[in-house]
Amino acid sequence: MTTKTKTAQSTPTRSAPTSDPVVIEDLIKVYNPHRPELAVRAVDGISFRVARGEALAIIGPSGCGKSTLLQILGCLDRPTSGRYVLEGKDVARLSEDELARVRNRHIGFVFQSFNLLPRMSALENVELPLLYGAQQETRERARAALAKVGLADRGHHMPNELSGGQRQRVAIARALVTEPSILLCDEPTGALDSRTGREVLELLGRLNAEGTTLIMVTHDLLIARSLGRAIALRDGRILMDGASAEVVAEFDRLHAESAQTEVAA
Ligand SMILES: Nc1ncnc2c1ncn2[C@@H]1O[C@H](COP(=O)(O)OP(=O)(O)OP(=O)(O)O)[C@@H](O)[C@H]1O
Ligand SMILES: [Mg+2]
Repeated sequence: MTTKTKTAQSTPTRSAPTSDPVVIEDLIKVYNPHRPELAVRAVDGISFRVARGEALAIIGPSGCGKSTLLQILGCLDRPTSGRYVLEGKDVARLSEDELARVRNRHIGFVFQSFNLLPRMSALENVELPLLYGAQQETRERARAALAKVGLADRGHHMPNELSGGQRQRVAIARALVTEPSILLCDEPTGALDSRTGREVLELLGRLNAEGTTLIMVTHDLLIARSLGRAIALRDGRILMDGASAEVVAEFDRLHAESAQTEVAA
């Protein structure tokens, strides 16, 4: 009896596997599955977990499935098969409406090209996700999110009155305003010069340090190395998954080798 009690007490519920915000099992995404001549297996049987507060880079050559995977993680697209459990909820089989709700509640998305609405001010752009979710005090919360990215004084500027880095910070404020637990970024510095890119990365790093789980697609290996963990994809599969310094070093080595082989051929 004593043993039983001990076992029950020593089971740490907080570190149970289901507490990971992202759990992916054998995920497959085939575009145009019903037209064999056009079918593309963009994600081909991927499994991994992401722990809360982790910073994960997804790297790999063009066309290897990075954006496809990120879109599924962000509930913008659905897998063809496999499991995706987001914050304990199996999202692979949700209806469109339910999917939109889950996305609004848990996910912030930052794109390479900012995706701001051009006819709306910075403040109105940031407010937008709150309007979809029928939330309270939208203006105040949008102001707070803009202040958090250092743009309190730019709320009334239209996107074309902002610099590239400022636009991306507005996009980050828009991603943050619903207080998502997970921030997904697809090449967030791809359209920025290196100094502005560094500022945006610092901002994302700060948000991660405050507890937001960060998943970032990047082709920039220096950026990938600055995050804690990296997954390298090839042809829709996981080639490597581990500490970013090791994954990036190995990825670099493989590329140098294949470049040499090409020169020799
Ligand atoms: N909507 C689509 N319909 C059909 N095929 C698609 C679609 N979107 C992507 N693909 C294909 O799926 C594969 C993976 O594309 P994806 O955009 O995920 O690659 P990526 O790793 O993000 O590449 P990049 O680094 O160039 O952005 C590619 O072969 C691409 O041509
Ligand atoms: Mg892409």
